Amino acid sequence: MERTLAPPERRVARVSGVERLGAYHVIGTEDPGGPQPQPGQFYMLSSEHGWGGQAGERPYLPRACSYARARASDEGVALDFLLEAIGPGTGRLSGLAAGDGLALVGPLGIGFDRGAAEGRALLVGGGIGAAPLLCLEEELMRDGEEPRVLLGFRTAAHAQAGALFTDPVVVTDDGSVGRQALVTELLREELDADPGARVFACGPPPMLEAVRALCAQREVPADLALESGMACGFGACFGCVVPTREGYLRLCVDGPVLDAARLESALFPGAGH
Ligand SMILES: Cc1cc2nc3c(=O)[nH]c(=O)nc-3n(C[C@H](O)[C@H](O)[C@H](O)COP(=O)(O)OP(=O)(O)OC[C@H]3O[C@@H](n4cnc5c(N)ncnc54)[C@H](O)[C@@H]3O)c2cc1C
Ligand code: FES
Repeated sequence: MERTLAPPERRVARVSGVERLGAYHVIGTEDPGGPQPQPGQFYMLSSEHGWGGQAGERPYLPRACSYARARASDEGVALDFLLEAIGPGTGRLSGLAAGDGLALVGPLGIGFDRGAAEGRALLVGGGIGAAPLLCLEEELMRDGEEPRVLLGFRTAAHAQAGALFTDPVVVTDDGSVGRQALVTELLREELDADPGARVFACGPPPMLEAVRALCAQREVPADLALESGMACGFGACFGCVVPTREGYLRLCVDGPVLDAARLESALFPGAGH
């Protein structure tokens, strides 16, 4: 599987704007001289200033973030990140403003393998897991495919991210937008109607495990964009290892997207939130 390799450096990009989108934030930036990433790849992000415990201001580790959209620009590549502020790192990044410096390393990892299987693409996202599916949808459509996008969110505020997609089917946990259902129920219905589909999924570990089990049962090919705690993002710390049928893999270099057939389970001890 081909990947775009990251330049061996930490670049400081300028934030072009930050928009509130319901429960999320969209951070736009111009990556100076950075290469075009591939859907499912990610960046390690931190703010240029104010990243940590005051005096030195840079004691925190960067945070892994999938890119949601990318466009070639005069500067290099214009990137959008979709962020959910759940703690100090994502909170600080969501609080950036136009003109602020965003330090990034990337693009990193291996993304979705679009050519690995035949069949209509079903994109299945849970919550902030919608982020890497947005650029995947765009690329599939650009290649003449008609992907079906299934998204599940907790509430109407989270479901606003659905507006970024072309004609998605959206369900919520509380029934405030679309049916009150889990996105895996939608997936089951879609696979009943089209057993020859192929699946690309990203979301919380229990959702991904349900997708993996459903696809395994029906012998449907599935690419899962997984998460684990990442300290470096480029293979040095071994902090992101996950168990697979082939032994432990570093999710930052061998993933974060893995063929579901390589996994016994998408629920890893100690990972997920
Ligand atoms: C490849 C990859 C792509 C990602 N893409 C996005 C994205 O597009 N948008 C986005 O908002 N977030 C994304 N994340 C998740 C994001 O990196 C974490 O939520 C972030 O590191 C949290 O940092 P924090 O300081 O805000 O919160 P913390 O205080 O560090 O974490 C808050 C809670 O989340 C748990 N947690 C933190 N990081 C992780 C993790 N990586 N896996 C499991 N649990 C964790 C902690 O245990 C804690 O309970 C991605 C993660 C990975 C590995
Ligand atoms: S995050 Fe350091 S090896 Fe993967």
